Amino acid sequence: MSATLIKGTEIREEILEEITAEVKEIKEKYDKVPGLVTILVGENPASMSYVTLKIKTALRVGFKEIQESQPVDISEEDLLALIEKYNNDDSINGILVQLPLPKHIDEKKVLNAIDPDKDVDGFHPVNVGRLMIGGDEVKFPPCTPAGIQEMIVRAGVETSGAEVVVVGRSNIVGKPIANMMLQKGPGANATVTIVHTRTKDLAAHCKRADILIVAAGVPDLVKPEWIQPGACVIDVGVNRVGEKPSKKNPGKMVAILKGDVDFDAAKEIAGSITPVPGGVGPMTITMLMKNTLKSLKFRLGIQ
Ligand code: GUN
Repeated sequence: MSATLIKGTEIREEILEEITAEVKEIKEKYDKVPGLVTILVGENPASMSYVTLKIKTALRVGFKEIQESQPVDISEEDLLALIEKYNNDDSINGILVQLPLPKHIDEKKVLNAIDPDKDVDGFHPVNVGRLMIGGDEVKFPPCTPAGIQEMIVRAGVETSGAEVVVVGRSNIVGKPIANMMLQKGPGANATVTIVHTRTKDLAAHCKRADILIVAAGVPDLVKPEWIQPGACVIDVGVNRVGEKPSKKNPGKMVAILKGDVDFDAAKEIAGSITPVPGGVGPMTITMLMKNTLKSLKFRLGIQ
C-alpha cells in the first residue's frame, strides 16, 4: 500500500477533544453550555441509530441534549409548532430534524421553519446563501462537506491552486463542497470541477484531479486508472452491498459497506485516501457538534 490513510476516526477524536475543552472553558466563564435538540419522527432504524450517536456525542462533549422522539403520524402542523418552541428557547443553540421525514410532511417547509441561526445542519436556504457568499458570511457549513474540508486540511494536503474534482451534485455534499473549495481562504482557493451522471467523460476529469471527492452513491464507481498518481482521494460513499456476521457478536448480522472508489486498487495509486468505513462517516456528527458550539459562540458574541 502506498497511500497514506486519512482516518476519520482519529481526526474525530482530536476535534471532539478540542470541542470538550472549549465547552468547559465557556461554561466556567459564561455559565452556559451549547444546547442541541434532536427531533426524530418515526422509527426508521437507520435514522434511530444516527440520532442515538448524535445524542451520545453531544453528551460526551458536555452539551445539553434534548431528544424529541415523535410518532410517525405526527401532523406537519404539530412538527412546525415543536420547531417554533425550540426556535424560542434560549437554552437551545442547535435544532436538528433527522431526515428523511414521512411522506405526509413537506420536508422543505420543515427545514425552512428552523431559525437559520439555530440551523446547525446548514440546510436552510439562508445558510446555503451564506455559504455561497463565503468568508465571514458563513455561519453553519453543512456537516459532511465541512468534515471533508477539515480532513483535507488536517492531512496536510495543499488546496490552493489544486485541481479539485467533485463527483456528484447533491445539495448535501456535491454542491456545497465544490462551493467551499473554490472560496478565497485557507483550505480552499482551488480550481473546482463538478461532474455528474450526464458528464461525457468522467474518467478524463477524475484523472486531472489533485483532490478527488466522490459522492455519487455508486459502489466502486471510480476505477484505479481514473486516479492521478499521488492524488488525495476522499470517498464519501457508504453503500450497503451485503451482510456478514458481526466480529464482536457472531450471532448478529452487520452490513458490508463499500465506498464509491475501488479502495483496494486505488490505495496503490493515490497519495492519500479515506477508507470506508472509518473515513468521512465519523466526521459528519463531529462537525454537527462544532456547528452547535459555534452557534452558542455567535450568541455570546465570541465567534
Ligand atoms: N439524514 C441523513 N443525514 C442527515 C444529516 O446530515 N442531517 C439530518 N438532519 N438528517 C440526515
